[in-house]
Amino acid sequence: MDVLVTGCAGFIGSHLSERLIADGWHVRGVDAFTDYYPEADKRENLRALEGEARFSLTVADLAEARLDDLLADRPLIIHLAAQPGVRGSFGDGFGRYLHDNVRATQRLLEAARDAGCRRVVYASSSSVYGDAETYPTLEGVTPRSPRSPYGVTKATCEDLAAIYAGMGVETTGLRYFTVYGPRQRPDMAMRRLCEAATGGPAFRLLGDGLQSRDFTHVSDVVEATILAATAPAVPPVLNIGGGEEATMLEVISTLDELNGAPIPVLRGDVQPGDVRRTGADTTLMRGLGWAPRTSLRAGLASELAWVARRNANRGLALAASR
Ligand SMILES: NC(=O)c1ccc[n+]([C@@H]2O[C@H](COP(=O)([O-])OP(=O)(O)OC[C@H]3O[C@@H](n4cnc5c(N)ncnc54)[C@H](O)[C@@H]3O)[C@@H](O)[C@H]2O)c1
Repeated sequence: MDVLVTGCAGFIGSHLSERLIADGWHVRGVDAFTDYYPEADKRENLRALEGEARFSLTVADLAEARLDDLLADRPLIIHLAAQPGVRGSFGDGFGRYLHDNVRATQRLLEAARDAGCRRVVYASSSSVYGDAETYPTLEGVTPRSPRSPYGVTKATCEDLAAIYAGMGVETTGLRYFTVYGPRQRPDMAMRRLCEAATGGPAFRLLGDGLQSRDFTHVSDVVEATILAATAPAVPPVLNIGGGEEATMLEVISTLDELNGAPIPVLRGDVQPGDVRRTGADTTLMRGLGWAPRTSLRAGLASELAWVARRNANRGLALAASR
């Protein structure tokens, strides 16, 4: 049972790798430790896998490195490596997105075809929908209409996957809807809210707070990803959404309650690329036997507790070093 997980040191990839190891898989993780956020955080994400005999780590940039050795045993591929985030994809930042999302994915698909790998499961995004005309958005029915260059790179990955699927590699793209929970990336709104709740800088709310997201807990994302990787047959794209759509104001109010005190919030303007709403129709994913299990409240509590624990440990480490 061999699986290659790209982006294994990231938020979702590290949770997925831990779960695959617990399920008995041999996991080869690949990560370039890009500088979108600190390498130390990504090393920390991998801490639980240190010394694990069935886990190995290869540090490599998928857009540059030779891939044939990595794929010699024709592993199942779960491709999560990417440059995430909507806002940084405008302007000169786009070059990074082309490199880490488009070029890396095309090279991996090509190498998977050459090696004879059976299936490539890869991370797409709710960003491919943009501002949809109707909700919930449904694969194959709701047109793709990305509002950001990041969304365009994810839509392009879907198009590339369709081409290689036509050449014999089974592919399925997972349209993740705003994933949150412990280890969430530091640029994401819930993480910044949890940091603000535990003594960090005030949270900057962009826009009126009525923008809503179909938030999905990372444990449910991991479950869905493994089901998509192991099901006998899978559709070309699948929505993975937590099913509990909420506005930012609702999220802030729930976190205020969990925190026992109001979180400091500053106001800012809506940023380019931000969509008003996301909402997934998950009928296809549910057909594979999946259902989200983590309520928004329980999921927020899990992230807040993780951030508080992390900050307390850092405070202790700092005090000990003085
Ligand atoms: N987190 C979300 O809400 C969300 C939503 C939709 C889609 N996604 C997608 O899910 C995937 C994982 O997201 P995440 O939030 O865990 O991000 P993350 O940044 O925490 O993880 C991505 C990892 O990929 C690595 N990486 C980037 N470029 C690479 C390259 N060229 N070669 C090798 N490794 C490289 C990075 O070092 C990082 O560790 C991404 O493809 C992202 O676009 C995430």
